[in-house]
Amino acid sequence: MALLEGKVAIITGSGRGIGKAIATLFAKEGASVVINDLDSEPAEETAKEIRKMGVKAVACAGSVTDKEFPERLMNTTIKELGKLDILVNNAGYTWDSVIQKMTDEQWYAMVDIHATAPFRIIRAATPYMREAAKEELKEGKRIHRKIVNITSVASVYGNAGQVNYSAAKAALVGITKTMAKEWGAFNINVNVVAYGVIDTRLTGEKELVSKIKVGDKEVDVGIPKASRDFMKSMIPLKRTGTPEEAAGPVLFLASPLSDYITGELLICSGGLVL
Ligand SMILES: NC(=O)c1ccc[n+]([C@@H]2O[C@H](COP(=O)([O-])OP(=O)(O)OC[C@H]3O[C@@H](n4cnc5c(N)ncnc54)[C@H](O)[C@@H]3O)[C@@H](O)[C@H]2O)c1
Repeated sequence: MALLEGKVAIITGSGRGIGKAIATLFAKEGASVVINDLDSEPAEETAKEIRKMGVKAVACAGSVTDKEFPERLMNTTIKELGKLDILVNNAGYTWDSVIQKMTDEQWYAMVDIHATAPFRIIRAATPYMREAAKEELKEGKRIHRKIVNITSVASVYGNAGQVNYSAAKAALVGITKTMAKEWGAFNINVNVVAYGVIDTRLTGEKELVSKIKVGDKEVDVGIPKASRDFMKSMIPLKRTGTPEEAAGPVLFLASPLSDYITGELLICSGGLVL
């Protein structure tokens, strides 16, 4: 049997990059998926591609940072797919500067997307995860549900130029560990995966990709080629990772293979320590 047969999963920020690879892998393993992205076109396109695999996929475009969004995300999931088993808080981006040049806007943008949005989405999932489990427990059933949060090695080791991002991603580690304690009694496993350098538009060569549009903002992304080459030489596996390789540990933490693991941080970085 496929690892996620009959499960329903939400993956935020899954129109491209790592989120798309996670959604595609989940679908291959039998899950129905909700595809969220700020940009509606890649969200719809990903959902379409997944439906072609013979699996249910629903797009729910919108910004995870909008206050009303978590409720809409839950309503769409329940209306279209009937329940919620797995939640992956993946949506995110970087907006780097050294501290003396960093604005309050940059600071709060990272806190909003990497800490406040996952907090609100998990809170909005309460009826479908915690309360649903309560009913099952009364009937003597133990059904595991899973939350996987996505962070960065910057949250563990720090990274120059990312005081906003590393702090917000560290907050997500705190959210993970607290929720593992609050919801453990309801068989909800809450874990977090920290990536090193995975090949997506966020980490491309700066000489090739230097700006992306995030809503109405144009933000600087990418790593200069020289720094990228240096980083590669520091990675014990001597290469950056693919989105598909990034998706593997998330599948593990979303599947029954990890039913006795909760509150853990799993580093997926080819061995890189910053
Ligand atoms: N690529 C890496 O090396 C790396 C390393 C560490 C952590 N991460 C984390 O992995 C996650 C995925 O990043 P990626 O590398 O796949 O980047 P990506 O840019 O390829 O994909 C991220 C997706 O999130 C979406 N998104 C951004 N803001 C959003 C919002 N407000 N609401 C909904 N969707 C939004 C984007 O539109 C995009 O499609 C992020 O949380 C990122 O911080 C990535």
